[in-house]
Amino acid sequence: MVKHENFKTCDQSGFCRRNRAYADTASSVSSWDSPYRLDSASIAFKDGKLTGTILKSVANSDHAVRLPVTITFLESGTARVTVDEEKRQKGEIELRHDSKAKKERYNEVEDWVIVGGTQVSKGAAVSKGEAGSTKVVYGPGSKFEAVITHAPFGIEFRRDGEVQIKLNERGLLNMEHWRAKVDKPAEEKKEGEEAVVEEASKEVTEDESTWWEETFGGNTDSKPRGPESVALDITFPGYEHVVGLAEHAGPLSLRQTRGGDDSYTEPYRFYNADVFEYEMDSPMTLYGSIPFMQAVKKDSVVGVFWMNAAETWVDIVKGKTSANPLSLGIGSQTTTQTHWFSESGLLDVFVFLGPTPHDVMKSYSELTGGSQLPAEFSLGAHQCRWNYVTDEDVKDVDRKMDKHRIPYDVIWLDIEYTDGKKYFTWDPDTFPDPLGMQKQLDEHDRKLVAIIDPHIKNEANYWVVDELKSKDLAVHNKDDNIYEGWCWPGSSYWIDAFGANARKWWATLFQYTKFPSSAPNLWLWNDMNEPSVFNGPETTMPKDNLHSGNWEHRDVHNLNGMTLVNATYEGLLARSKEEEKAGGRRPFVLTRSFFAGSQRMGAMWTGDNQAEWSHLKASIPMVLSMGASGFPFAGADIGGFFGNPSKELLTRWYQAGAFYPFSRAHAHIDTRRREPYLAGEPYTGIITQAQRLRYSLLPSWYTAFYHASESGTPVVKPMYFAFPGDEKAFAIDDQFLLGSTGLLAKPVTEEGATSVDIYLSDKEKYFDYFDYTVYSGPGHVTVQAPLDRIPLIMRAGHIFPRRDRPRRSSGLMKFDPFTLVLVLGDSGDAEGDLYLDDGESFEYQDGAYIHRKFHYDAATQSLSSEDLSTPGKKTKAYLKAMEKVRVEKVVIVNAPVSWKSKTEVELAEEGGSASGKRRVPMSWQEEGSGKANWAIVRDPGVGIGKGWSITFD
Ligand code: GLC
Repeated sequence: MVKHENFKTCDQSGFCRRNRAYADTASSVSSWDSPYRLDSASIAFKDGKLTGTILKSVANSDHAVRLPVTITFLESGTARVTVDEEKRQKGEIELRHDSKAKKERYNEVEDWVIVGGTQVSKGAAVSKGEAGSTKVVYGPGSKFEAVITHAPFGIEFRRDGEVQIKLNERGLLNMEHWRAKVDKPAEEKKEGEEAVVEEASKEVTEDESTWWEETFGGNTDSKPRGPESVALDITFPGYEHVVGLAEHAGPLSLRQTRGGDDSYTEPYRFYNADVFEYEMDSPMTLYGSIPFMQAVKKDSVVGVFWMNAAETWVDIVKGKTSANPLSLGIGSQTTTQTHWFSESGLLDVFVFLGPTPHDVMKSYSELTGGSQLPAEFSLGAHQCRWNYVTDEDVKDVDRKMDKHRIPYDVIWLDIEYTDGKKYFTWDPDTFPDPLGMQKQLDEHDRKLVAIIDPHIKNEANYWVVDELKSKDLAVHNKDDNIYEGWCWPGSSYWIDAFGANARKWWATLFQYTKFPSSAPNLWLWNDMNEPSVFNGPETTMPKDNLHSGNWEHRDVHNLNGMTLVNATYEGLLARSKEEEKAGGRRPFVLTRSFFAGSQRMGAMWTGDNQAEWSHLKASIPMVLSMGASGFPFAGADIGGFFGNPSKELLTRWYQAGAFYPFSRAHAHIDTRRREPYLAGEPYTGIITQAQRLRYSLLPSWYTAFYHASESGTPVVKPMYFAFPGDEKAFAIDDQFLLGSTGLLAKPVTEEGATSVDIYLSDKEKYFDYFDYTVYSGPGHVTVQAPLDRIPLIMRAGHIFPRRDRPRRSSGLMKFDPFTLVLVLGDSGDAEGDLYLDDGESFEYQDGAYIHRKFHYDAATQSLSSEDLSTPGKKTKAYLKAMEKVRVEKVVIVNAPVSWKSKTEVELAEEGGSASGKRRVPMSWQEEGSGKANWAIVRDPGVGIGKGWSITFD
């Protein structure tokens, strides 16, 4: 059970309490007026940017607080609203406690997060609006409008004239400006004083009790700048569902937080933390934060990205609204109102107007980066535990996996491999021969991933800590001395990866000379990077700690994990560049903590789950939410971290895990050993089948990752993403599609289940992956799922690639031939694609890849392969290297009866014989009894990188 007392509730977090109270006041005072107005005289518009000053009126003061605002209209159609505080920009404030902290509001989040898409719109223009407002027309085809109301300040975003998103509609905009602490003389604090309410001002009196020092769990936060939170309400009129906001253990369609059906009582919280034994279905914070949300209604998806790295909370309220109050609910719509608040920093929000989920993700990923195109091995199976105890143990597991013919790519080492928890060392007694171990793995093209955490052991004669201290690269405490805390090694210091010098230094530690006995097939796992500090407030660092540039930890907390991964990634890249491949190999780094942008550097996993069915079930919406939050390379510990899974649970978990984008088994040090070959039959055999299925579909997984890297689309897609017109599907989060393959999976997550009900959005035909049973929608269909079956169906109209030869690891499949599966409806075309490259280098950036589109044209009954690539200087050499890799089969599911007597098809190949055509054998198979007929074209022999067509006519 999670220890709730270790983590703040909203009520215990001063600014959360203040902002919720602010919202309550706003909704209870009938004539609530937001005290923020845009000074009309200050407005200027130039080069796609509107600038001005928002004036905040303050009770009992003649002086308004000046808040510079910039609204930027980007070429992509994204709008950005940034609000700062003039006095702090100018450094005209005083800090308490002689603090060395920076005076400005933290304005460097974008340096970590934004990597592109910032080109300002040339077409954006101010157009005549109503009195007291400014209208800007922008976006593709000038379809978007931002109507900025001056008093009170607010913005309505419209698409094709219809309002999609409103900022400050409820008047909850709140920028807590800097103020000096006025200490009341002691004698004034007389008995009964609380009873005196300042009626005279007619202003809502503010509760100052949480403005200054705050104490929680025995730790006092000195808060040298006092209250400084930023808050805003964001309304999505007509939108019933909101998704995103990873990482939380809850449903994909986010719950309300302030009353209503199934409401949580707490807001969704973002304060990256090591939450021991985290609970299911909860808005509590977890290890990572992506404050990006999509709102979903029929045929429209829009989104917002709240770019703030400080502690953040989000309240969600849904309500019925109706255009016509007399309609008695007919035609009424649900509107989702959200309320965002962060402890410090700028108010900085991006607005995406869709209309498709694809559009929103593409715009978001243009800004924060597509997900990494991972090294192909990392899409294979990962075998981890805390801990493989010796190098012999690792080699033994490796041999046993081979003996049982269970494919896998990576074996992992947890913290015990080190010499006394000193990273970049090996325990000399248990790991006497790390190179021998890595060599054995390399024989089958397998990899080792070793853990390295950001806490550095405070011990004499440990060179890493000596350098960290002497070079002054560690995080400081509020008094500007090195910060010391407690983690796995005991007393530790933390690398401050916010500093460029610290990152450079950290990157050097991965050189083969610095990390002795590390081989080129060793990659990295960064854990505990929230950071986890066992004796710190909420298991992390004090908020008044200081980072590079004297930014307070408070300002940057949620970025912390990402900065470390950045440095590790750079180190691994530099290390690989020293090797034979001049351009380097794509690093693999797994992280526990993350922020928006972390998707560029590797994979994440959902931390310390439990070997319980409820955790298996929750892992699916969590992984889907990660994808909807732009970080698709996600998975949960297969088998469950804490506790011992039953064999059934372990088996079902491996089956589900074969459909996690990141597929790793892991276990706590106190659990029994559970490598898949230990389960015994039938379990071992069933797990092996699940792993083989994963491996045969690797070309489809890799293609889906390619799309994710190009346009931010999820690798496993929730239903709303694939069927944005089907409202019934929006909240479904226990089934999903793999990329654009049309493969729909619904892993079994109930003990003893022998079937599942899958929801189909459309009228298209679907076929069981294994036996071609036919299903038709729309609605629910029952799919049999005895223990040896993963419920997996194929949607008609798709073509997907496989590699069917069982191998020990993905590396050994590099030159294996392909199978194409063509899934036909009763009419209509089918389509699919394949992306392929060397799976490890960056040469694809110079054109060393194959990207084919497969198209089946129903009218001409022909299947063709067309080139989708853009040639570059390495294209030719790559195509040459892949010349012998061919298509070995085409399987046609639901092959028409008219093909029954066919024994041959005609194949035309680019660069083929003079006539350009040859005939290849085909066989047709009748199934009957609810199953689809199928056909197979054997060995068409065409090169995978070539153009060709097969005519079935
Ligand atoms: C943390 C990680 C877990 C790891 C353990 C020891 O609890 O989440 O995966 O095994 O630390 O390093």
